[in-house]
Amino acid sequence: MFANYQEALNDYAYALSVKIPPGIRVFNKIADFRSWRRQLLLDRQTLGYVPTMGALHQGHLALVTAAKQQCDHVALTIFVNPAQFAPNEDLASYPRTLQSDLDQLAALGPHVASAVLVPQVQEMYPTGIELDVSKQKGAFVEVKGLSHQLEGITRPHFFRGVATVVTKFLNIVQPEHVYFGQKDIQQCFVIRRMLQDLHVPVQMHICPTIREEDGLAMSSRNTYLSPTQRTHALCLSKALQTMEKMYRDGVRHAPTLISAAKDVIETTQRQVETLGQDWQVKLDYVNVNSPHDLSEIRDEITDGAIMSLAVFVGKTRLIDNIVVDVSLDS
Ligand code: PAJ
Repeated sequence: MFANYQEALNDYAYALSVKIPPGIRVFNKIADFRSWRRQLLLDRQTLGYVPTMGALHQGHLALVTAAKQQCDHVALTIFVNPAQFAPNEDLASYPRTLQSDLDQLAALGPHVASAVLVPQVQEMYPTGIELDVSKQKGAFVEVKGLSHQLEGITRPHFFRGVATVVTKFLNIVQPEHVYFGQKDIQQCFVIRRMLQDLHVPVQMHICPTIREEDGLAMSSRNTYLSPTQRTHALCLSKALQTMEKMYRDGVRHAPTLISAAKDVIETTQRQVETLGQDWQVKLDYVNVNSPHDLSEIRDEITDGAIMSLAVFVGKTRLIDNIVVDVSLDS
């Protein structure tokens, strides 16, 4: 009945074996976290919250820093959420680097990240969690109309898993402010709508995508890339830069922008072929969408746009996006 029981136990043992840096409270039990949070409320201290799956990098840390600028305390959750992985995806191999995560948070300075909740799978999903959606039981949150396009085509149940776990965590953490990265722009749209529709009393903030110096968007999954694949992964940001430049030069026809982005990806594909690599670069999608409802723009862009793409570099699926003439402020 408990599909991930063994894995959950392993997670827990792992969490307990880390060395906790001074100044950061690490909680494994939801009740303990709640007591800590309740005291903040009594002390009239505000709380900013950054949900993560760990394997922290500068992108995550930027969210923590943004939160600290607005709130007295910042809490993170680190939880590799089974419900947002399909059975064929990388749940087992997703990087779990708790010690390094805590050390990076400590390195931000004293009193930046106050608390980290690293819950067990059993506590988050008390009746178990099956990766096969048709076998799942219990309460799940779906945001219709924003979850089926873009990422939702290749990952049809992904946003159901995300919306469900974020709802659970918001009920646990009860922050005044919550922070997400533009890097996962559709996730931001899904969560924003969920917060509105379910009257969740929290203020959401969307922070800019943090990139490596050469333009690659930071991602926990970049660690899967070999050095050569890492070079080829630059085709994502290059394709977006090409679209953005054309847009700034006055091109508004979405199919023209998409075709230019495809040319950039194809150039990288040819390089991979020429080098005789035994893996491939494969475009999943490149799209131009409305910043209002994520509907596909098939003709002229008239009122801002989201330009996004997903590319397989070998087995690693990477995503990136830019927005033009849109404010993401909530
Ligand atoms: P994760 O991939 O760990 O990302 C946690 C947060 O960091 C998300 O809001 C994501 O958009 C943000 N982030 C990741 N890379 C970023 C970058 N390069 N620049 C700025 N922000 C970046 O997204 C998830 O986890 C999960 O779906 C989660 C919301 C935690 C639910 O399980």
